[in-house]
Amino acid sequence: MITPDGRILFGGDYNPEQWPEEVWADDVRLMKAAGVNSVTLGVFSWAKLEPRPGARDFGWLDRLMDLMHEHGIGVVLATPTASPPPWLGRLHPETLPRDEHGQIVWWGARQQFSHSSLVYRRYAAAITEDLAVRYGHHPALRMWHINNEYCTFDYGDEAARAFRVWLRERYGCLDALNEAWGTAFWSQRVDCWDEVIPPRRAQYLKNPTQLLDFRRFTSDALMECYLAERDLVRRHTPGVIPVTTNFMPLWIGQDAWAWSAQEDVVSVDSYPDPRDPLGGQYNAMIADLTRGQAGGPWLLMEQAAGPVNFRGVNHPKPPGLGRLWTFQAVAHGADGVCYFQWRQSRQGAEKFHSGMVGHAGEEGRTFQEIKRIGRELPALGGTVPGTHTSADIAVLHDWHSWWASGQDGRPSSLVRHEDVLRSWHRALWEAKLPVDFAHPEHDLAAYRMVAVPQLYLLTDAALDNLVSYVRSGGTLVCGFFTGIVDGDDRIRPGGMDARLRELLGIRTVHEWWPLEAEDTVDCVRFRGTLWSEELTAAEDATVVTAYRGGELDGLPAVLRRGSAWYLSTLPEPEALSALLAGAAAEAGVRPPVAELPAGVEAVRRGTVLFLLNHGRRPADVTLPTGTHRDLLTGEVATDSVRLERYGVAALVPHGTGTGSGAAQHV
Ligand code: GLA
Repeated sequence: MITPDGRILFGGDYNPEQWPEEVWADDVRLMKAAGVNSVTLGVFSWAKLEPRPGARDFGWLDRLMDLMHEHGIGVVLATPTASPPPWLGRLHPETLPRDEHGQIVWWGARQQFSHSSLVYRRYAAAITEDLAVRYGHHPALRMWHINNEYCTFDYGDEAARAFRVWLRERYGCLDALNEAWGTAFWSQRVDCWDEVIPPRRAQYLKNPTQLLDFRRFTSDALMECYLAERDLVRRHTPGVIPVTTNFMPLWIGQDAWAWSAQEDVVSVDSYPDPRDPLGGQYNAMIADLTRGQAGGPWLLMEQAAGPVNFRGVNHPKPPGLGRLWTFQAVAHGADGVCYFQWRQSRQGAEKFHSGMVGHAGEEGRTFQEIKRIGRELPALGGTVPGTHTSADIAVLHDWHSWWASGQDGRPSSLVRHEDVLRSWHRALWEAKLPVDFAHPEHDLAAYRMVAVPQLYLLTDAALDNLVSYVRSGGTLVCGFFTGIVDGDDRIRPGGMDARLRELLGIRTVHEWWPLEAEDTVDCVRFRGTLWSEELTAAEDATVVTAYRGGELDGLPAVLRRGSAWYLSTLPEPEALSALLAGAAAEAGVRPPVAELPAGVEAVRRGTVLFLLNHGRRPADVTLPTGTHRDLLTGEVATDSVRLERYGVAALVPHGTGTGSGAAQHV
């Protein structure tokens, strides 16, 4: 449970060790002024807590925990294991990871640990356990935050050893490994376990299944680190304090479906680019994916109050945009909206990254907006936390498929899983249709429509799942380069799995015709991008749209067999949106609000209808029938509501008794 007291969590990463203690009192004063009710402490405090091996300095953290408690601010306490102190690498060089060229990744930044190093794990466990013992029963403690954005790769000897153990468990024997990796190709057969290595720098294209397994292994090895720390903190606070670890948004390195199943609270960091006109869509996509992983409410652990510092050019957020994206996260299921970081640093690599309190101080425009958000959020408390965001459409995504499809040596390096996913999500977002994300083996029965932007790798279980979903009346819309390989990245005969071809009404896939970046392909009514396909339809399939001109003239571009659709190209954005909206309408999916002005998003969460204006101009929205009250302003509206530029409304039915604290806890 993220908010046991029904309040939306609001606060951020607090790194007071970067400041003299005199500043802490001012921090608390400003936190109170901003309505902060949660801070994340200790994320990068290892060197401060353990200045030399085995030493402990908890005094400063004791004082901070007490200070927070005294002022009614809860603490999300982090284990500091994402950034080992320099002494660990100096004394134990084997804890330092190596890149694929064999180069050591040194201390001097952060995350310089080998997930497979037993020495690293021993030191990480020791500091974690001491923290858990010391603070596990502190009244300020609200949540455990394990490590930070697990993301390291290691190709060194420690990883090689652990990779072999992992592979032995997966395959049992070398014959099975050779078979799965297809090592008959290019004389890659391994004859003993010592010949099995991480996919280090090589002369030419590497073995794809070795690469895929190395991704799987890395995700699992990092998860072992997480689980070890999670189990330690749980041992000292059993069933009381929830545990999380914050994901990077749509990060390739972790199978976040598997990870999320091991968390009490699923949390993510989201940093849309303020310059991106589709930043709101990106934010929605990250939220929808995280909500899918959580199976309900989730936590926005980090966002930026203003500019970040990791893009080439780092833009501030215009007035109102940060507030809009914060409420958007809540609309999409977040029960907590936090920031990196509380006070902007004066030194270090992130001194130009904004904070809730920026270099401009409390007079700064950013802090003023933070204060406004902090004032407004309590109006949603009691009504919103714990409730579900409604969606009739599931978008399928799987990391294993991403890992397999994202390698060199394939038909087109321009086809990137994450881009295709984003294009489809965008199309549905622009069609004003809320979506969930789901794993291809999840039970899909609750959804009227399932969208598969691209699942190059599909297991037999996933294929059976899709078939039975459609047989039970579901609508499936499937994108190109799907169902191509099995779980070992072995091609399924016929250019696409036979079950899927039958489902979609495809007789034969003859050739793929990928497009150059600047090229499009003409189809009746729209233009396709990225990919096209030479295929013949089954007799009982309906050709929805054909290619026009060129080599594929007259061949099906979009076809369907009953409620199963296939798109053999990526239609340009408006056309994709229209196609998906058409299929959804046929499947009985209705948007939350019938008519919405461009740029306005509507999302239903529990009893609340959120209206979010992503446009730079005010917009008038015609409301569904009945009278509504805006929880944020208290104003009552009947026919329509005006949203200012980047404006937000959180409407509940007025006069029916709902929405006044009657939360729908599901
Ligand atoms: C990540 C990290 C933070 C900080 C921010 C900056 O999300 O978790 O420590 O580096 O990025 O955007």
